[in-house]
Amino acid sequence: MDYSRLKWHVEDKIGVLTLNSPETLNALDSIILNELEAWVDGPAQEETLRAIVITGEGKAFVAGADIKEMLSLDAQGAKKFGMLGSTIFRKIEKLSIPVLAAVNGFALGGGCELALCCDIRLASKRAKFGQPEVGLGITPGFSGTLRLPRVVGVAKAKELIYTAKIVGADEALSLGLVNHVVEPEELLEKTMQMARQIAGNSGSAVSKSKAAIDRGLDMDIDNAILVENDLFALCFAQDDQKEGMQAFVNKKKPAFK
Ligand code: CAA
Repeated sequence: MDYSRLKWHVEDKIGVLTLNSPETLNALDSIILNELEAWVDGPAQEETLRAIVITGEGKAFVAGADIKEMLSLDAQGAKKFGMLGSTIFRKIEKLSIPVLAAVNGFALGGGCELALCCDIRLASKRAKFGQPEVGLGITPGFSGTLRLPRVVGVAKAKELIYTAKIVGADEALSLGLVNHVVEPEELLEKTMQMARQIAGNSGSAVSKSKAAIDRGLDMDIDNAILVENDLFALCFAQDDQKEGMQAFVNKKKPAFK
Protein backbone atom coordinates (compact mmCIF):
# COMPACT_ATOMS: atom_id res chain seq x y z
CA MET A 1 0.00 0.00 0.00
CA ASP A 2 1.37 3.46 -0.95
CA TYR A 3 1.13 6.36 1.49
CA SER A 4 2.10 9.99 1.12
CA ARG A 5 2.35 10.75 4.86
CA LEU A 6 3.16 7.37 6.42
CA LYS A 7 5.99 4.88 6.17
CA TRP A 8 5.36 1.21 7.00
CA HIS A 9 7.70 -1.72 7.06
CA VAL A 10 7.81 -5.09 8.78
CA GLU A 11 10.93 -6.70 10.26
CA ASP A 12 10.95 -9.93 12.28
CA LYS A 13 7.14 -9.90 12.60
CA ILE A 14 7.24 -6.35 14.03
CA GLY A 15 5.52 -3.63 12.03
CA VAL A 16 7.00 -0.14 12.19
CA LEU A 17 4.74 2.79 11.34
CA THR A 18 6.38 6.21 10.94
CA LEU A 19 4.30 9.34 10.61
CA ASN A 20 6.14 11.11 7.87
CA SER A 21 5.15 14.74 7.51
CA PRO A 22 8.05 16.38 9.37
CA GLU A 23 7.60 19.84 7.81
CA THR A 24 4.30 20.20 9.72
CA LEU A 25 5.56 18.23 12.74
CA ASN A 26 3.33 15.32 11.67
CA ALA A 27 0.20 17.34 12.48
CA LEU A 28 -2.88 15.22 11.90
CA ASP A 29 -4.82 16.61 8.94
CA SER A 30 -7.52 14.73 7.02
CA ILE A 31 -5.00 13.25 4.61
CA ILE A 32 -2.83 11.67 7.30
CA LEU A 33 -5.93 10.60 9.27
CA ASN A 34 -7.40 8.88 6.20
CA GLU A 35 -4.09 7.12 5.60
CA LEU A 36 -3.99 6.05 9.24
CA GLU A 37 -7.49 4.62 8.91
CA ALA A 38 -6.54 2.67 5.76
CA TRP A 39 -3.46 1.38 7.58
CA VAL A 40 -5.29 0.32 10.75
CA ASP A 41 -7.99 -1.41 8.69
CA GLY A 42 -5.43 -3.13 6.46
CA PRO A 43 -1.71 -3.79 7.05
CA ALA A 44 -1.95 -3.35 10.85
CA GLN A 45 -4.26 -6.39 10.96
CA GLU A 46 -1.80 -8.69 9.15
CA GLU A 47 -2.00 -11.99 11.04
CA THR A 48 1.74 -12.72 11.12
CA LEU A 49 2.51 -9.52 13.09
CA ARG A 50 3.43 -9.88 16.76
CA ALA A 51 3.79 -6.19 17.69
CA ILE A 52 3.64 -2.72 16.16
CA VAL A 53 5.86 0.29 16.84
CA ILE A 54 4.59 3.80 16.06
CA THR A 55 6.99 6.72 15.78
CA GLY A 56 7.39 10.07 14.05
CA GLU A 57 9.86 11.43 11.48
CA GLY A 58 11.74 14.58 12.47
CA LYS A 59 11.52 16.52 15.72
CA ALA A 60 7.92 15.58 16.52
CA PHE A 61 6.03 12.42 17.25
CA VAL A 62 2.85 14.33 16.39
CA ALA A 63 2.30 18.04 17.25
CA GLY A 64 -1.46 17.58 17.37
CA ALA A 65 -4.44 17.74 15.10
CA ASP A 66 -3.94 20.19 12.25
CA ILE A 67 -4.84 23.63 13.64
CA LYS A 68 -4.91 25.23 10.18
CA GLU A 69 -7.49 22.70 8.99
CA MET A 70 -9.56 23.03 12.18
CA LEU A 71 -9.59 26.84 12.01
CA SER A 72 -12.46 26.94 9.48
CA LEU A 73 -14.51 24.06 10.90
CA ASP A 74 -18.05 24.64 12.20
CA ALA A 75 -19.56 22.46 14.95
CA GLN A 76 -20.80 19.85 12.49
CA GLY A 77 -17.42 19.64 10.75
CA ALA A 78 -15.64 19.42 14.12
CA LYS A 79 -17.91 16.56 15.19
CA LYS A 80 -16.95 14.61 12.07
CA PHE A 81 -13.23 15.47 12.38
CA GLY A 82 -13.15 14.53 16.09
CA MET A 83 -14.98 11.27 15.47
CA LEU A 84 -12.60 10.36 12.65
CA GLY A 85 -9.60 10.71 14.99
CA SER A 86 -11.32 8.97 17.90
CA THR A 87 -12.48 6.08 15.72
CA ILE A 88 -8.98 5.51 14.33
CA PHE A 89 -7.37 5.70 17.78
CA ARG A 90 -9.93 3.24 19.15
CA LYS A 91 -9.15 0.85 16.30
CA ILE A 92 -5.44 1.14 17.13
CA GLU A 93 -6.19 0.49 20.80
CA LYS A 94 -8.28 -2.56 19.88
CA LEU A 95 -5.67 -4.20 17.66
CA SER A 96 -5.14 -7.70 19.07
CA ILE A 97 -1.35 -7.28 19.27
CA PRO A 98 0.65 -4.85 21.45
CA VAL A 99 1.30 -1.39 20.01
CA LEU A 100 4.36 0.49 21.33
CA ALA A 101 4.77 4.24 20.90
CA ALA A 102 8.36 5.41 20.39
CA VAL A 103 7.82 9.07 21.23
CA ASN A 104 10.70 10.90 19.57
CA GLY A 105 9.65 14.52 20.15
CA PHE A 106 6.53 16.66 20.56
CA ALA A 107 3.45 14.61 21.49
CA LEU A 108 0.91 17.38 21.89
CA GLY A 109 -2.88 17.33 21.69
CA GLY A 110 -3.79 14.66 19.15
CA GLY A 111 -0.16 13.47 19.38
CA CYS A 112 -0.42 12.80 23.10
CA GLU A 113 -3.77 11.14 22.37
CA LEU A 114 -2.15 8.90 19.75
CA ALA A 115 0.51 7.86 22.26
CA LEU A 116 -2.23 7.20 24.83
CA CYS A 117 -4.06 4.70 22.60
CA CYS A 118 -0.87 2.61 22.42
CA ASP A 119 -0.25 -0.14 24.99
CA ILE A 120 3.24 1.00 26.02
CA ARG A 121 5.09 4.30 25.60
CA LEU A 122 8.86 4.80 25.42
CA ALA A 123 10.08 8.38 25.18
CA SER A 124 13.23 10.07 24.00
CA LYS A 125 14.74 12.50 26.52
CA ARG A 126 13.71 15.18 24.00
CA ALA A 127 10.01 14.22 24.02
CA LYS A 128 7.42 16.71 25.24
CA PHE A 129 3.87 15.87 26.19
CA GLY A 130 0.77 17.95 26.73
CA GLN A 131 -2.84 18.67 25.92
CA PRO A 132 -2.67 22.35 24.87
CA GLU A 133 -6.25 22.44 23.52
CA VAL A 134 -7.84 24.77 26.09
CA GLY A 135 -5.30 27.38 25.04
CA LEU A 136 -6.79 27.12 21.54
CA GLY A 137 -10.35 27.42 22.81
CA ILE A 138 -11.25 23.75 22.39
CA THR A 139 -11.29 20.52 24.38
CA PRO A 140 -9.07 17.53 23.57
CA GLY A 141 -10.98 15.90 20.71
CA PHE A 142 -9.39 12.51 20.00
CA SER A 143 -10.36 10.88 23.34
CA GLY A 144 -7.69 12.52 25.51
CA THR A 145 -10.24 13.43 28.18
CA LEU A 146 -10.98 9.70 28.47
CA ARG A 147 -7.60 8.02 28.22
CA LEU A 148 -5.38 10.52 30.05
CA PRO A 149 -7.26 10.10 33.38
CA ARG A 150 -7.13 6.32 32.95
CA VAL A 151 -3.34 6.47 32.52
CA VAL A 152 -2.19 9.19 34.96
CA GLY A 153 -5.22 9.44 37.29
CA VAL A 154 -8.07 11.96 37.32
CA ALA A 155 -6.40 14.80 39.25
CA LYS A 156 -3.17 14.82 37.22
CA ALA A 157 -5.13 14.57 33.95
CA LYS A 158 -7.29 17.51 35.00
CA GLU A 159 -4.19 19.52 35.89
CA LEU A 160 -2.57 18.79 32.51
CA ILE A 161 -5.73 19.53 30.53
CA TYR A 162 -6.87 22.64 32.47
CA THR A 163 -3.41 24.27 32.54
CA ALA A 164 -2.44 23.17 28.98
CA LYS A 165 1.10 22.83 30.33
CA ILE A 166 3.73 20.94 28.41
CA VAL A 167 5.89 18.48 30.32
CA GLY A 168 9.25 16.94 29.48
CA ALA A 169 10.02 13.25 29.31
CA ASP A 170 11.18 12.94 32.93
CA GLU A 171 8.00 14.50 34.29
CA ALA A 172 5.97 12.28 31.92
CA LEU A 173 7.80 9.31 33.45
CA SER A 174 7.04 10.41 36.99
CA LEU A 175 3.36 10.83 36.01
CA GLY A 176 3.23 7.30 34.63
CA LEU A 177 2.50 8.69 31.18
CA VAL A 178 5.51 6.86 29.74
CA ASN A 179 7.08 3.54 30.66
CA HIS A 180 10.72 4.46 29.96
CA VAL A 181 12.84 7.45 28.98
CA VAL A 182 15.90 6.77 26.83
CA GLU A 183 18.58 8.66 24.90
CA PRO A 184 17.19 10.01 21.59
CA GLU A 185 19.57 7.94 19.44
CA GLU A 186 18.60 4.75 21.32
CA LEU A 187 14.83 5.22 21.21
CA LEU A 188 13.95 3.12 18.20
CA GLU A 189 16.35 0.29 19.04
CA LYS A 190 15.17 0.10 22.69
CA THR A 191 11.56 0.06 21.50
CA MET A 192 12.37 -2.64 18.95
CA GLN A 193 14.16 -4.64 21.67
CA MET A 194 11.00 -4.58 23.77
CA ALA A 195 8.89 -5.49 20.72
CA ARG A 196 11.23 -8.41 19.95
CA GLN A 197 11.01 -9.59 23.57
CA ILE A 198 7.21 -9.56 23.27
CA ALA A 199 7.38 -11.29 19.87
CA GLY A 200 9.48 -14.10 21.37
CA ASN A 201 6.63 -15.12 23.67
CA SER A 202 3.42 -16.88 22.69
CA GLY A 203 1.58 -14.46 20.38
CA SER A 204 -1.70 -16.05 21.32
CA ALA A 205 -1.03 -15.68 25.07
CA VAL A 206 0.14 -12.06 24.65
CA SER A 207 -3.03 -11.18 22.70
CA LYS A 208 -5.24 -12.90 25.26
CA SER A 209 -3.43 -11.04 28.06
CA LYS A 210 -4.09 -7.75 26.23
CA ALA A 211 -7.76 -8.66 25.83
CA ALA A 212 -8.07 -9.64 29.51
CA ILE A 213 -6.47 -6.38 30.68
CA ASP A 214 -8.38 -4.06 28.31
CA ARG A 215 -11.76 -5.75 28.60
CA GLY A 216 -11.34 -6.16 32.35
CA LEU A 217 -10.68 -2.45 32.85
CA ASP A 218 -14.05 -1.66 31.25
CA MET A 219 -16.14 -3.91 33.51
CA ASP A 220 -16.75 -4.73 37.14
CA ILE A 221 -14.27 -7.11 38.74
CA ASP A 222 -16.66 -10.08 39.03
CA ASN A 223 -17.38 -10.07 35.30
CA ALA A 224 -13.74 -9.29 34.54
CA ILE A 225 -12.72 -12.45 36.44
CA LEU A 226 -15.05 -14.47 34.17
CA VAL A 227 -13.43 -12.94 31.08
CA GLU A 228 -9.92 -13.65 32.38
CA ASN A 229 -10.94 -17.19 33.29
CA ASP A 230 -12.35 -17.87 29.78
CA LEU A 231 -9.18 -16.58 28.14
CA PHE A 232 -6.96 -18.55 30.53
CA ALA A 233 -8.90 -21.74 29.79
CA LEU A 234 -8.76 -21.11 26.03
CA CYS A 235 -4.95 -21.15 26.18
CA PHE A 236 -5.13 -24.81 27.21
CA ALA A 237 -6.95 -25.65 23.97
CA GLN A 238 -4.07 -24.27 21.92
CA ASP A 239 -0.60 -25.53 20.94
CA ASP A 240 1.40 -22.75 22.62
CA GLN A 241 0.46 -23.93 26.11
CA LYS A 242 1.71 -27.47 25.38
CA GLU A 243 4.87 -26.09 23.74
CA GLY A 244 5.62 -23.62 26.56
CA MET A 245 5.04 -26.05 29.41
CA GLN A 246 6.70 -29.04 27.71
CA ALA A 247 9.76 -26.90 26.99
CA PHE A 248 9.93 -25.89 30.66
CA VAL A 249 9.72 -29.53 31.79
CA ASN A 250 12.37 -30.54 29.21
CA LYS A 251 14.59 -27.59 30.23
CA LYS A 252 14.48 -26.17 26.67
CA LYS A 253 13.47 -22.88 25.12
CA PRO A 254 9.93 -22.97 23.72
CA ALA A 255 9.54 -22.60 19.95
CA PHE A 256 6.18 -20.89 19.54
CA LYS A 257 4.69 -20.96 16.03
N1 CAA B 1 -1.28 22.03 13.27
C1 CAA B 1 -0.87 22.59 12.11
N2 CAA B 1 0.40 22.95 11.86
C2 CAA B 1 1.30 22.73 12.84
C3 CAA B 1 0.94 22.16 14.07
C4 CAA B 1 -0.41 21.79 14.28
N3 CAA B 1 -0.84 21.20 15.39
N4 CAA B 1 2.04 22.10 14.85
C5 CAA B 1 3.05 22.61 14.12
N5 CAA B 1 2.60 22.98 12.90
C6 CAA B 1 3.37 23.59 11.81
C7 CAA B 1 3.68 25.06 12.09
O1 CAA B 1 2.59 25.87 11.76
C8 CAA B 1 4.88 25.26 11.19
O2 CAA B 1 4.44 25.44 9.87
P1 CAA B 1 4.94 26.72 9.02
O3 CAA B 1 6.41 26.49 8.85
O4 CAA B 1 4.16 26.62 7.77
O5 CAA B 1 4.64 27.92 9.87
C9 CAA B 1 5.60 23.92 11.26
O6 CAA B 1 4.64 22.96 11.71
C10 CAA B 1 6.77 23.90 12.25
O7 CAA B 1 6.26 24.31 13.51
P2 CAA B 1 6.90 25.52 14.37
O8 CAA B 1 7.61 26.48 13.47
O9 CAA B 1 5.82 26.07 15.24
O10 CAA B 1 7.98 24.71 15.21
P3 CAA B 1 8.57 25.12 16.65
O11 CAA B 1 9.69 24.18 16.89
O12 CAA B 1 8.86 26.57 16.71
O13 CAA B 1 7.39 24.82 17.69
C11 CAA B 1 5.63 23.50 18.67
C12 CAA B 1 6.98 23.50 17.90
C13 CAA B 1 5.86 24.04 20.09
C14 CAA B 1 5.18 22.04 18.74
C15 CAA B 1 4.62 24.36 17.92
O14 CAA B 1 4.60 23.99 16.54
C16 CAA B 1 3.21 24.23 18.44
O15 CAA B 1 2.88 24.76 19.47
N6 CAA B 1 2.35 23.47 17.69
C17 CAA B 1 0.97 23.32 18.05
C18 CAA B 1 0.80 22.35 19.20
C19 CAA B 1 -0.65 22.24 19.59
O16 CAA B 1 -1.27 23.17 20.06
N7 CAA B 1 -1.22 21.00 19.41
C20 CAA B 1 -2.61 20.74 19.72
C21 CAA B 1 -3.46 20.90 18.51
S1 CAA B 1 -5.17 20.79 18.87
C22 CAA B 1 -5.53 19.15 18.91
O17 CAA B 1 -4.66 18.30 18.79
C23 CAA B 1 -6.96 18.83 19.11
C24 CAA B 1 -7.30 17.40 19.35
O18 CAA B 1 -7.20 16.89 20.43
C25 CAA B 1 -7.88 16.63 18.30
